[in-house]
Amino acid sequence: MTKYKFSRNDSVQFIKYMGSKTKILPFVIDGIEDIYEGGIICDLFSGSCSLSGALATQAQIISNDIQSYSAVIAKAYLTDWNDETITSKIIIDIAEKYHYEHYSSLIKKYQYPENLNLVSFNKIEKLNQDLINQSFSSKWHLFTKYYSGTWWSAEQCTWIDSLRKAIEDFKDNPAYNTMLGSLMYAMAYNSQGTGHYAQYRDAKTISSMNDILIYRRKNIKDYFTRKFDDALEKLPLKANILNHEVLTLDYLDCLRNLKKATIYADPPYCFVHYSRFYHAIETLVLYDYPILQHKNSTIVKGRYRDDRHQSPFSIRSKVKGAFSEMFKLISDNQSSLVLSYSDTGMIAFEELLTLANTIFLNHTITYKSLDHLHMTMGRKDDRDRNVKEKLIIVKPN
Ligand SMILES: C[S@@+](CC[C@H](N)C(=O)[O-])C[C@H]1O[C@@H](n2cnc3c(N)ncnc32)[C@H](O)[C@@H]1O
Repeated sequence: MTKYKFSRNDSVQFIKYMGSKTKILPFVIDGIEDIYEGGIICDLFSGSCSLSGALATQAQIISNDIQSYSAVIAKAYLTDWNDETITSKIIIDIAEKYHYEHYSSLIKKYQYPENLNLVSFNKIEKLNQDLINQSFSSKWHLFTKYYSGTWWSAEQCTWIDSLRKAIEDFKDNPAYNTMLGSLMYAMAYNSQGTGHYAQYRDAKTISSMNDILIYRRKNIKDYFTRKFDDALEKLPLKANILNHEVLTLDYLDCLRNLKKATIYADPPYCFVHYSRFYHAIETLVLYDYPILQHKNSTIVKGRYRDDRHQSPFSIRSKVKGAFSEMFKLISDNQSSLVLSYSDTGMIAFEELLTLANTIFLNHTITYKSLDHLHMTMGRKDDRDRNVKEKLIIVKPN
């Protein structure tokens, strides 16, 4: 049988994502081509949806991830289209009107003037952070209240809220998810952190203060406009006809509902939970004023959602069981699997391979390796850790 051939399409990128497969997509797609015989491809842990985006016009996709922000990005790639009724200017005009009415006087008190010293800078930061104790009467104030003085300044938060409100006015527009994705992009590139939302930086020296100030002075509206204009131009002018589906299920529930398919599984590799690193965009999407996590009756510094998901793939005592259950369900319905993992994961690659061999009795199992500089997003010492990305490829006999 001749090998299936997908073209390697680039998609618009909305977020910086830990463990994103964007850079190694040719390797992943090559693994899928080894076993694909048509039909549905299920991107089981889709994250920033690099695979779903790349194959959007080439196969029927089910994109699944437990996080709601992933569903927004998946829909931006798979189901959004441009009916030409919307432009960035229309959205910005609405946001500016809302901002003027609700925030124009508030932001004057939270500015960062020129020539600050460390002490006065940190006083302003604290003033911004204390907005968490303020009451607001307007409906759209979640970021201003919860996140001022953290990854963003109060002023940037007022623009995140105003744009979020403007976008919600277009809930029925076919480019709605592309709008939200563009706001996620603006948030990522204006944030003073390293691309995720696990911890924001404190200014302990003049040099860190100056670096933080660069981000504090960036403009959310400009970044939103740039990304949305670009993304809108790349959207199709008609709805995609491939019957894609976007789900926010636990991976086991997704597998239980799935018919025979080709499954691409890219579960978390390490002990950090995605829900901690990306809680701010989860909250942007849900916009539900979540209860924040407390420790000793104080809100924790990272202001995480209290209800955030804990993945078994990131808990050493649960990871093997998590893989076993996944393998059993895939084996039972005679699906094919391409599994991404690294040689620095929570379970040794050899152990994973042995586990696959004990569960997939009527399948053929092969594997491939690729040397890859893994993006660990700012964690000290191992920023550009050299890991071997691997694929386990499983095909029913
Ligand atoms: C390595 S990332 C996937 C990266 C993705 N392939 C990409 O290119 O962006 C792992 C993903 O698994 C998701 N996840 C973790 N536990 C899950 C679970 N129990 N069910 C579904 N998704 C889960 C996380 O939210 C995260 O997005």
